[in-house]
Amino acid sequence: MLNQLDQLEREALAQLAEAGDAAALEAWRVTYLGKKSRLMTILGDLGKLPPAERPAIGRRGNEVKRALEAAYAERVAALKQEELERSLTAAPLDVTLPGRPVEIGRLHPVTQTLREIYAVCAEMGFQVYRSREVETDEMNFQLLNIPPHHPARDMWSTFYTTVPGVILRTHTSPGQIRVMRAYCPEPIRVILPGMCYRYEQITARSEIQFTQVEGLAVGRHITMADLKGTLVEFARRMFGADRRYRFRASYFPFTEPSAEMDIECVICDGKGCPVCKYTGWVEILGAGMVHPVVLRNGGYDPDVYSGYAWGMGPQRITMLRYQINDIRYFWENDLRFLEQF
Ligand code: PHE
Repeated sequence: MLNQLDQLEREALAQLAEAGDAAALEAWRVTYLGKKSRLMTILGDLGKLPPAERPAIGRRGNEVKRALEAAYAERVAALKQEELERSLTAAPLDVTLPGRPVEIGRLHPVTQTLREIYAVCAEMGFQVYRSREVETDEMNFQLLNIPPHHPARDMWSTFYTTVPGVILRTHTSPGQIRVMRAYCPEPIRVILPGMCYRYEQITARSEIQFTQVEGLAVGRHITMADLKGTLVEFARRMFGADRRYRFRASYFPFTEPSAEMDIECVICDGKGCPVCKYTGWVEILGAGMVHPVVLRNGGYDPDVYSGYAWGMGPQRITMLRYQINDIRYFWENDLRFLEQF
């Protein structure tokens, strides 16, 4: 029996030296140290031996077991080391290679303009007020002094929904009513940015979906002079102090008097070009003193309160600032265009 153990040990150690990978090592462990291995069987059956032989066989058996376990652990560690060395030499890691460039996204040019508008308006005391894009006919038209069938509706070709009286807003002006009703009788100074929709032919100058920024100030003793001062200051900060501006009389049902503001064409510096249709001027916004009917619809007594409002297109402003000649670029999602900003 003792001879058998010696031989077992020699055989196991020899086999272990041959085991070259994890699978072979595991097979070896099962064969020589597993529950059904010869060694374990001998140790398990000690009780069946004559009492005189038990101590010697038991001692030697445990010795062999410890020796095999130690040799096994050593071999596992050695193999691991070998593998590590192999992987390090096989695919050497070049730490001097430049990293893969990370593509950095950017804000859409219109979003950049919007944020500048927010910043300039914030300095002048205007808060941002968000209003809904899906509106009622009542808010978008009637409360803004545009009754059903009024010819002024032709100014806004409308997307109707299948729900009677519910439309996509054609301008940000319905937000005027919502803001007035929310704050009445407090004084108001807000801008209302957001998407508007018009059922129109898509051309280089108009899209069916576009952003507007509405401005609204309501309080006591507000005059046309406040309107002009605010808008000229706004335009100076957006386009530079040297540009010239002009106001032209205009018509909107919800303002009285109404005006439109032009900026000296930034493309030709006022000399005349296709963008300004050879006039030297480009329209940037519509504005006016809030109509008494609209003030009343918002909850304000027009004998006590007055206000001014304007509406402008950040896309148009972006086009002027960057000399973009077609509004359709903004929605095309062509990276060659967007990456320039
Ligand atoms: N809502 C008008 C438009 O979309 C612009 C405007 C706003 C005019 C506020 C006057 C006052 O054409």
